[in-house]
Amino acid sequence: MAGTEGVTADAVSTSTYASPARSLGDPGITPLSPSHVAKDSEANDTEEPSFLVVVAIDFGTTSSGYAYSFTKEPECIHIMRRWEGGDPGVSNQKTPTTILLTPERKFHSFGFAARDFYHDLDPNEAKHWLYFEKFKMRLHTTNNLTLETDLTAANGKKVKALEIFAYALQYFKEQALKELTDQGGEGFDNSEIRWVITVPAIWKQPAKQFMRQAAYKAGMASPENPEQLIIALEPEAASIYCRKLRLHQMIDLSSKGAVNGYTPSEAISTGFTPAKEHIRRNRQSRTFLVENVIGEIWSELQEGDSYIVVDSGGGTVDVTVHQIRLPEGHLKELYKATGGPHGSLGVDYEFEKLLCKIFGEDFIEQFKIKRPAAWVDLMIAFESRKRAAAPDRTNPLNITLPFSFIDYYKKFRGHSVEHALRKSNVDFVKWSSQGMLRMSPDAMNALFKPTIDEIIHHLNDLFEKPEVNNVKFLFLVGGFAEAPLLQQAVQNAFGSKCRIIIPQDVGLTILKGAVLFGLDPAVIKVRRSPLTYGVGVLNRYVEGKHPPEKLLIKDGTRWCTDVFDKFISADQSVALGETVSRSYTPAKPSQLVIVINIYSSEHDNVSFITEAGVKKCGTLRLDLTGTDISVPSRREIKTLMQFGDTEIKAMAVDVATSKSVKVGIDFLNY
Ligand SMILES: Nc1ncnc2c1ncn2[C@@H]1O[C@H](COP(=O)(O)OP(=O)(O)OP(=O)(O)O)[C@@H](O)[C@H]1O
Ligand SMILES: [Mg+2]
Repeated sequence: MAGTEGVTADAVSTSTYASPARSLGDPGITPLSPSHVAKDSEANDTEEPSFLVVVAIDFGTTSSGYAYSFTKEPECIHIMRRWEGGDPGVSNQKTPTTILLTPERKFHSFGFAARDFYHDLDPNEAKHWLYFEKFKMRLHTTNNLTLETDLTAANGKKVKALEIFAYALQYFKEQALKELTDQGGEGFDNSEIRWVITVPAIWKQPAKQFMRQAAYKAGMASPENPEQLIIALEPEAASIYCRKLRLHQMIDLSSKGAVNGYTPSEAISTGFTPAKEHIRRNRQSRTFLVENVIGEIWSELQEGDSYIVVDSGGGTVDVTVHQIRLPEGHLKELYKATGGPHGSLGVDYEFEKLLCKIFGEDFIEQFKIKRPAAWVDLMIAFESRKRAAAPDRTNPLNITLPFSFIDYYKKFRGHSVEHALRKSNVDFVKWSSQGMLRMSPDAMNALFKPTIDEIIHHLNDLFEKPEVNNVKFLFLVGGFAEAPLLQQAVQNAFGSKCRIIIPQDVGLTILKGAVLFGLDPAVIKVRRSPLTYGVGVLNRYVEGKHPPEKLLIKDGTRWCTDVFDKFISADQSVALGETVSRSYTPAKPSQLVIVINIYSSEHDNVSFITEAGVKKCGTLRLDLTGTDISVPSRREIKTLMQFGDTEIKAMAVDVATSKSVKVGIDFLNY
């Protein structure tokens, strides 16, 4: 047999040999015995590239923004300047995540500009334009996400998700570069910027990688220069900021006299008053000073104390549990990130369901397609009323129905919306004489209930875990954390277990934390591995120990094939930069190429790469040809995987020649 085939096991035809197993193709390697496992957390002392500025982008489901800090002046975090537009009754600190493409599928605009332009289009013209909103959730909900996955625009047309994400990121990149240039007076080059993009911690690995690919497409970094971009986890970013909080920068719900004395309007108005001596802001650049100390909240904390961060945004609720390590204030992840699609959009869906109940699902579906701009209007009107909901509210909330809703309904059904309201069984929504939907406070609270219940339920489960037993604080962050109904529910459920803290400008917490993370990515020292990782190998077949169907006979040697050689288990604690290394040797000494396949699984106990849930996520291909030096008969191939970062790296080294290959784990191309 020619000696060039990479994988000996693959090349051996099973018909020639009476071998029950068919190899999947990768186990061309076998552990060197004794297989040594080395853990080495010093392995990451590679040169850190230097940047002039860190720009973080919070790409949210409903709203997005960026913030930056110069490495020379890391205590100042500048939040992006205010953009044009805005909605009545809604104060926005970020800009809506909405994007508009022309009928020719070219990028047109982003944010308020996209929404307003689309809105002003004639309905017949609007049909041809491609308008996208709330599309980030697709990365969470799509099971087989690939670079080819499509998004559907409001007019039903499809565009590749990668393109839309790249357009959005490119837009942020340009805006940020423009603002930096305006600030600094001279042009900024992309190479001087370290980019940070935040993603929900509960996203699966493919979605996190997808964001990186989109950023490459947007020209923020490249596969040759991956360090220029950090994919940060949203609740981690929030946690990094929270630990710096000063007392005047937050509201402590427990100090509001707990449940009975709780008045959200008071909490908001007194707690959110900016403390002028510490926060400097102006309209052009909104700058926050972050003192280079651990916030005084930690003066009460002792080494080993822990806290929960609940990031409740538009799409997802993301929860992490961190422990603080003094004196530097480094963080250790105590329990793997959890959460779910329980964001504030759930309230919007309930409202939509209510409309379907009153006006009929068929009508609402048609209205959304035929009058998309009016639908957007209606949801904006709802948004401002949703933000006015509060536990102590007694007067009703009025939602203006767009004229075209009333008009289209009449054409569609042949009777008025008023008639529909009277006929429906929904008695807590009435028609007001000014042409508005009048919702009782109870009706509004009912729209929040399913989503809030899900959050409380999730947190309840989390509090049951031994690791979470003794948390001192619960930080409620993200835009949804502004909802007094959510604040109250969390305080009621967990106020006796820990102190509930809401930072000021709660919607910007992630953004500010992401900048701090970009300045010092080593602040999170220990993480939990979200998956089990290993490589596929051959083991010497042991009768009775290995299943007969895995027997592979090759050149007279009996192997157990498809063995999953574990590097790390899901939820195992790993220090930042921690490297696990294993040594292998080619199953056949004459082998000229070595292929090491990397696999992952959500399960802990994986024995074979053929088991359900095991996915290939990387390949290390090492060329063993072209070496003149004499190579020992049992050639050592050292395989290393580096964990503890938000992304994972793998490397194989031919010890005799020092030849090596590196690979990032790839969840999108297998
Ligand atoms: N007072 C309020 N009551 C209810 N919801 C609110 C309130 N204020 C803001 N929200 C909701 O918070 C969401 C925006 O929060 P945020 O900007 O943190 O989300 P996001 O980053 O876009 O989403 P995600 O983090 O899930 O991707 C919106 O859905 C908005 O309706
Ligand atoms: Mg968010």
